[in-house]
Amino acid sequence: MRHVALTVNGTRHELELEPRELLVYVLRERLGLTGTSVGCDTSSCGACTVLLNGESVKSCTLLGVQADGAQITTIEGLASDGELHPVQQAFHDNHALQCGFCTPGMVMAAVSLIEHGEATDEGAIRMGLEGNLCRCTGYHNIVLAVEQAAGVMGKAS
Ligand code: FES
Ligand code: FES
Repeated sequence: MRHVALTVNGTRHELELEPRELLVYVLRERLGLTGTSVGCDTSSCGACTVLLNGESVKSCTLLGVQADGAQITTIEGLASDGELHPVQQAFHDNHALQCGFCTPGMVMAAVSLIEHGEATDEGAIRMGLEGNLCRCTGYHNIVLAVEQAAGVMGKAS
């Protein structure tokens, strides 16, 4: 077992982890943050996307011990004071989800894309989200939502 300290959504956690435990299962099963989905376990779908020190990562591609000392944001950490994050609000406004399974990962990837100033137009948004798969929406409304959120966050072109 390895002693690991993670700060998740602003709360510090001290954990004893087995070296083989994937970060996504640390979040879901150790910390009870089940908003982060597991779609494939093989880094293909993006459903498990979280922010690690501000960068979007697929949390099934990292071991929990590799995140020692990191600041992590999950979908549960986006809303504040009862207000949805602009990306969450834009997904709601634009009907950018159907079953919702991909949505937490899609939202986290979109937050990263926008905050890095890379959601500049439809093509850039589609390219930026290409690691996140959605079986339901056809992506059109997701792109509209990200464009709206980029405008609200002052990061549109
Ligand atoms: S569960 Fe991590 S990429 Fe699919
Ligand atoms: S909304 Fe169903 S997989 Fe994306």
